Amino acid sequence: MIKRLLSILPVLMLVAAPSFALEILYPADGTSIVRSDFLIIKAGNDPVIEQITVEFGGAKSGKIDISGAEYRKAFGDMVILEPGFEPGADTIKVEGFAGGKPVARTQAEFFYIDRPGVTAPTKFAPYVLHTPEKEELCAACHNMQPSPESLDNESADKNPCGACHARRLNYDYVHGPAGVFQCAYCHDVKSAPVKYATRVEEIALCAECHEHKIDEFKSRQFVHGPIEAGLCSVCHDSHASAHFGQLTAAVNDLCMGCHSKVDTTSHVVRGFSGKGHPLEGPVDPSTPDRRFSCIGCHDPHGGNSSAYFQRGISARMELCQMCHKK
Ligand code: HEC
Ligand code: HEC
Ligand code: HEC
Ligand code: HEC
Ligand code: HEC
Ligand code: HEC
Ligand code: HEC
Ligand code: HEC
Repeated sequence: MIKRLLSILPVLMLVAAPSFALEILYPADGTSIVRSDFLIIKAGNDPVIEQITVEFGGAKSGKIDISGAEYRKAFGDMVILEPGFEPGADTIKVEGFAGGKPVARTQAEFFYIDRPGVTAPTKFAPYVLHTPEKEELCAACHNMQPSPESLDNESADKNPCGACHARRLNYDYVHGPAGVFQCAYCHDVKSAPVKYATRVEEIALCAECHEHKIDEFKSRQFVHGPIEAGLCSVCHDSHASAHFGQLTAAVNDLCMGCHSKVDTTSHVVRGFSGKGHPLEGPVDPSTPDRRFSCIGCHDPHGGNSSAYFQRGISARMELCQMCHKK
């Protein structure tokens, strides 16, 4: 009799031992993410994890309490944070607590891409959210099957994409159609298995509204490399950005991302000091309402000289005279 009980006991204990589920949904382990504003953790409801700590970028949070009734009612066991990741590879570590004691931990290695043109090492696969399996985790509280009419709504609180993506537009320079939530104009609601793929090849998409511009760029004698390759969003964010022209970075950082050599050689002129021409400054003499930068001299889309001088200028001397009149 006693012998039998003993043999059952360990099994019972195993079953009774609480198994705390803690998962980093976004950015998931082994993925790369693009300029996103979120860190999404699912903490497990049965048994309840009461607090979590989050660690990344060399800093660790205090205990974040998620046990309050009001919190649970609104968010369940979801924790959605606004992290501010640094570009490149990092690891997020999350620890869960119940009754004041650590009960679960998990981690995710990820790669953060802060601008197009940067590619992650191949061990990181691009993260995708809008798959049927992942959307199921959200559908209890969010509308993941929006009707076509609802997608026409132009405001963040009425458009179904606004619930999660409104922050993406919180910058000074907002692209026309994104600003009025015409997300579905460019993103295909019916694409599968991942929804919201861009409808057509990028430059063709831009050409639907900027045909004249693109024709103009392509009519130049020398067309800038990326445009020849059909790329616009290496330089322009289709949604919004902190930089004029919806640029993906401040002008010189953007150019230097692909032309780093320019910074290490003396550009245009060689002064007595060995220094080249200044490459930036507070005012562009040719266009006083903008800072002086690479685009003071170079047209970013192309031109009629092999170095794409501004305003279609082909002679070097004429370029200098744009700013150095005498
Ligand atoms: C238990 C309910 C619940 C579930 C499940 C849930 N959310 Fe949420 N989520 C909320 C609530 C409540 C808000 C706040 C809504 C508001 O402020 O209008 C929110 C807001 C958000 C925001 C916007 C944050 C901001 O302030 O900009 C994002 C992003 C988000 N959720 C993503 C997700 C994703 C992705 C999933 C699925 C993996 C998910 N949520 C599942 C309840 C939930
Ligand atoms: C429940 C919240 C939520 C809703 C609603 C939502 N998204 Fe997302 N979406 C996310 C999150 C989180 C990501 C990944 C992080 C990021 O890129 O911001 C994402 C990623 C994407 C991506 C990149 C590809 C992918 O699948 O990861 C596209 C494109 C996208 N969303 C478009 C849309 C459009 C268009 C709508 C409206 C029809 C929409 N989303 C509605 C939360 C949401
Ligand atoms: C003018 C066309 C256009 C509009 C309008 C637009 N997008 Fe995009 N979106 C793009 C392009 C192009 C990409 C880059 C696709 C790629 O890299 O493959 C993109 C990528 C994304 C991504 C992935 C992350 C990134 O930045 O690459 C998300 C998330 C996204 N869009 C959400 C939205 C949401 C939400 C809206 C509505 C507020 C919206 N988009 C409106 C063209 C558009
Ligand atoms: C549905 C139409 C539409 C599509 C598609 C579209 N745009 Fe636009 N775009 C606009 C509107 C509207 C404006 C604002 C009006 C203006 O300033 O000319 C604009 C303005 C711009 C600007 C000018 C910003 C400035 O400071 O003058 C840039 C750059 C731009 N779009 C890039 C793109 C790129 C890159 C694509 C393709 C990924 C694209 N657009 C696709 C409608 C569109
Ligand atoms: C190498 C980076 C780069 C690429 C690639 C690029 N642009 Fe630009 N673009 C810029 C910069 C920088 C400006 C700001 C120049 C200014 O305002 O003088 C700009 C300005 C613009 C403007 C507004 C000013 C104007 O000339 O009307 C439009 C529209 C535009 N780009 C569209 C596009 C489209 C469409 C593509 C793809 C075919 C594209 N760009 C590719 C860097 C780029
Ligand atoms: C995504 C990468 C990329 C970005 C960003 C970029 N370029 Fe380029 N650039 C190229 C490629 C590719 C070529 C053509 C290949 C070549 O001739 O070196 C090129 C060519 C050039 C040339 C002509 C080179 C020559 O040898 O005559 C100039 C000038 C130039 N870029 C200036 C700029 C400026 C200014 C910016 C910022 C507004 C910029 N580029 C941003 C990729 C880039
Ligand atoms: C004062 C005008 C001026 C400014 C500012 C300027 N450039 Fe140039 N750049 C030129 C001229 C002129 C040439 C043609 C070669 C020459 O005469 O030295 C040139 C050539 C180039 C070339 C092709 C040859 C080479 O040296 O590789 C690239 C790439 C380039 N510039 C990129 C840039 C970038 C990136 C910036 C901003 C960091 C910049 N330039 C700022 C005037 C300028
Ligand atoms: C888009 C405007 C612009 C163009 C075009 C331009 N420059 Fe400049 N240049 C500047 C600015 C701004 C400065 C720094 C302020 C100043 O000295 O006036 C400068 C300074 C200089 C200096 C003094 C450098 C120093 O260290 O003090 C020389 C020399 C010069 N430029 C030569 C040239 C030559 C040669 C060309 C034609 C190949 C040229 N610049 C084209 C804007 C321009």
